[in-house]
Amino acid sequence: MSVVNKRKKVTVQTIRRMKSQGNKIAVLTAYDHYMAGLLDQVGIDILLVGDSASNVIHGFQTTLPIGMDIMVSHTAAVARGNDKALIVADMPFMSYQPSIETAILNAGRFLAEGGAESVKIEGGTEMVPTIKRLIECGIPVMGHIGLTPQSINRIGGPKVQGRGKESRAYLMESALALEEAGCFSMVLELMDTEVASEITAALKTTATIGIGAGPNCDGQVLVINDILGLRDPGFKPKFLREYADLPPIISDAARRFIEDVRSGDYPNDDESFGTN
Ligand code: KIV
Repeated sequence: MSVVNKRKKVTVQTIRRMKSQGNKIAVLTAYDHYMAGLLDQVGIDILLVGDSASNVIHGFQTTLPIGMDIMVSHTAAVARGNDKALIVADMPFMSYQPSIETAILNAGRFLAEGGAESVKIEGGTEMVPTIKRLIECGIPVMGHIGLTPQSINRIGGPKVQGRGKESRAYLMESALALEEAGCFSMVLELMDTEVASEITAALKTTATIGIGAGPNCDGQVLVINDILGLRDPGFKPKFLREYADLPPIISDAARRFIEDVRSGDYPNDDESFGTN
């Protein structure tokens, strides 16, 4: 985007500072350059190139089918449209779980080829060795605990996490371990509000970014398509606030174009090239 954007570049240090100063962090997903430019221009702090692209862009039922090449391509498109927001690329299913070496090589692609400035990986205590190595390699990491969609087959559906003593203890233990490992931020997804509040209060330097985790997180993230109404009619989780209803606007524009083409009204003389 060629519009002048005067705000300062958001870095992982900015996000840590926002946490320490109690300034809320706004995060939206983006998958293409035009949307990234629009969101950057209005001051979004973080653009997350989410593996939710699998659902909302590519029409899959889960995040599992999307792979590295497509995610790198979405990330590079977002980076071309962005100026000041911090770009986080979501590491897809099986791009980091098999081994630490696999994780480093794939995370490296997001920075080198995709123009991302950090990566997000799902998982708690079990991911600590991988996270530590990525950070040692110069790759900032956003963690992701609570509902982790890449483990949907183990979890058994979109269930609120942190209900029950064991689950609560695992989440707190994981949050503290991810902070200790060096994550600059972590997503808390679909989590009991009280547990998310306790985690947010317990973390000193790692910002929590909630989605369905109540109002007390350091920031909030939503999927851009969802807030614009570009979602399956059956998908309306309690935490989703819809800020626009684009489908009727898009349908109306397309319907009028079809009518104009069929009636011969489009293109008119002003919209055509004459011979000189
Ligand atoms: O992929 C995604 O969009 C995400 C957010 C929902 C946090 O992981």
